[in-house]
Amino acid sequence: MSSVRMNIDGKDIEVEEGMSVLEAAKEAGIEIPTMCYDERLKPSGACRLCMVEITKNGRKKLVASCCYPVEEGLTVNTTTEDVHKIRRVLSELLLAVTPNGTHRELAAEYGITKTRFHLKTNPDSPCTLCGLCVRYCEEVKHRNAVCFVGRGIHRTVALVPGASNDCMSCKECYDFCDSGKMVYLVDGILG
Ligand code: SF4
Ligand code: FES
Repeated sequence: MSSVRMNIDGKDIEVEEGMSVLEAAKEAGIEIPTMCYDERLKPSGACRLCMVEITKNGRKKLVASCCYPVEEGLTVNTTTEDVHKIRRVLSELLLAVTPNGTHRELAAEYGITKTRFHLKTNPDSPCTLCGLCVRYCEEVKHRNAVCFVGRGIHRTVALVPGASNDCMSCKECYDFCDSGKMVYLVDGILG
């Protein structure tokens, strides 16, 4: 596979074509916050915590680094004021959903310990809509026992009818569901 040369945060790097900007940054030792990313799964771009600024042909734009492929001559900046602004607002919004998760540490880095937002969420089963459970169940387990339901503010995650046998022998989504929603759902059906 051929390689591409690019620059991240002032560092010239050479990486394999086909990688994402997030993966390239990681290889260069640069950490970008993520929530819906898992290296075993196809990126979905759901959480937007991994936004970075790219400069291409002299034009700047913000992109989700987990979904954006590396390109020859690309310049990436992971620490612009706009990038920090997005991370600050998103981490505060996520705190309104649940205090548990990687966004908590991110919020703390910005000195945010409580949120100004009030969202209509069920405190017994908060869900950040990261989608890791849905994608893991589909792409890794090939079971499709979890799905998204509802729209807008009512959108959430549910177990498909009849999923109890699959879930009872699995529960692997517990590991990455920081909000605790999957424990609530699966333990709920298992009694
Ligand atoms: S149930 Fe958990 S893993 Fe699934 S989308 Fe919600 S927060 Fe993410
Ligand atoms: S980690 Fe990239 S959008 Fe969630």
